[in-house]
Amino acid sequence: MKFEIIKADNYEEMSRIAAEKVISKITEKPNAILGLATGSTPEGLYKLLIEDHQKHYTSYRYVKTVNLDEYVGLDKDDKNSYFTFMREKLFNHIDVDLNNTNIPDGTAANMEEEAARYEKYIDEIGGVDLQILGIGHNGHIGFNEPGTSFKSTTHLIKLAEKTREANARFFNSMDEVPTEAITMGIQSIMDSKEIILLVSGASKAEALKNLVYGEITEDFPASVLRLHNKVTIIADQDALQLI
Ligand code: F6R
Repeated sequence: MKFEIIKADNYEEMSRIAAEKVISKITEKPNAILGLATGSTPEGLYKLLIEDHQKHYTSYRYVKTVNLDEYVGLDKDDKNSYFTFMREKLFNHIDVDLNNTNIPDGTAANMEEEAARYEKYIDEIGGVDLQILGIGHNGHIGFNEPGTSFKSTTHLIKLAEKTREANARFFNSMDEVPTEAITMGIQSIMDSKEIILLVSGASKAEALKNLVYGEITEDFPASVLRLHNKVTIIADQDALQLI
């Protein structure tokens, strides 16, 4: 297996190890391109990046960010859009130029055009140096649900019911949870020079086991990471219980 697994005692330690890696990347390459994820898993990491920025003045002035995905159909300023999430949880608290932050536009009139534009932009800026990922219970990375081609680039996707249920905690009711998203594809993710996958909690233990020991198959998208040559998995004990 090509990837490294770092065992953290708990969520805090997982977040701290990830933060150290991100900070050292930016210190080594101040104009790094960071690939960012949303969801609960990276929140601790983002808090620590903010703390570090305030205490040690690590600067994001020359950093560009590209996010993995966005819900389709939510306004940018909707409280559940990933646009809002990223501003509230990270961008508004560091010195990144908001013009250098990128999230697929879930309100675009033509999703195919938007997907092509996003993919081209990532290419033009030289590709992602360090991609942060979380994992869905069904093995999705980004919003690439089971069955997505390993060759996929940024595209529109119908969310799996399991994903909608998992994310319903942020909405008032299931009906409000979007049914579609626009996501970087599996190929787009695999093109990143380096990947850090964060896994936390007992509910992700089965997914992590599948990723490490299961078959490499489009039915379990995260399994593709075993074909990448620089992946670090940082997982807490609860997530590691089946390894
Ligand atoms: C979010 C994303 C998703 C999440 C995954 C896990 O941008 O791409 O793949 O990483 O759904 O979500 P949490 O961290 O909320 O368990």
